Amino acid sequence: MNHMTTLTTLTWEERIAHYTKATGFPRNLFMGEDGRVVGTWIMGNDYRVKSTYYGGYPATYLRRIKALFPDKRRPLHVFSGKVDLEVFPGDTVDINQNLSPTYVDDAQKLETVPLEQYDLILADPPYSVEDCEHYGTSMVKRNAVMRALQGVRSGTHVVWLDQVLPMYRKDAFAVEATIGMWKSTNHRFRGITIFRRL
Ligand SMILES: C[S@@+](CC[C@H](N)C(=O)[O-])C[C@H]1O[C@@H](n2cnc3c(N)ncnc32)[C@H](O)[C@@H]1O
Repeated sequence: MNHMTTLTTLTWEERIAHYTKATGFPRNLFMGEDGRVVGTWIMGNDYRVKSTYYGGYPATYLRRIKALFPDKRRPLHVFSGKVDLEVFPGDTVDINQNLSPTYVDDAQKLETVPLEQYDLILADPPYSVEDCEHYGTSMVKRNAVMRALQGVRSGTHVVWLDQVLPMYRKDAFAVEATIGMWKSTNHRFRGITIFRRL
């Protein structure tokens, strides 16, 4: 079976078991009675951003997400910035061509990206107009990004790190997991929403 035909097969119980085994972190993800995964990650002292890029993923974030999805073969980083591809290899999309992403594209359109080729999307949008000033970009319309991401195949997961739950179509995506992320003191709280394309 090649990657084009491999779709998600693991249950969330299996994903959580793999997460604890692969990372060695405490089992702080649980199945809620509503069938959704809930959890909290406390990043503790290991919150530094290796690349030092403003708004970059804190150390261990990618390792944690990777451990949840050992079955995925074709990840795509959207709003990729200077994502650490050694930890989590994959293709990249950013609007800033100076970052040399695989695709220079606006995440609100994704017109040049063959979305159907990917089975996992990691999205890390700017959270505010102030954050955008650091990137020299305009604030994104989250619902437009979610609409563009509807182009992925059924079974593809979208891992969205933000301070806001983006608007999405309930007939296109199901929310399967919500994870709160605490960095260290004096850092903003963030939430990870994991969608599955229906
Ligand atoms: C929070 S940073 C991502 C950092 C990344 N997770 C990392 O570890 O380096 C947001 C990124 O989104 C990009 N960006 C802003 N607006 C965009 C848009 N409309 N489409 C695509 N990328 C955009 C910025 O250039 C910036 O690199």
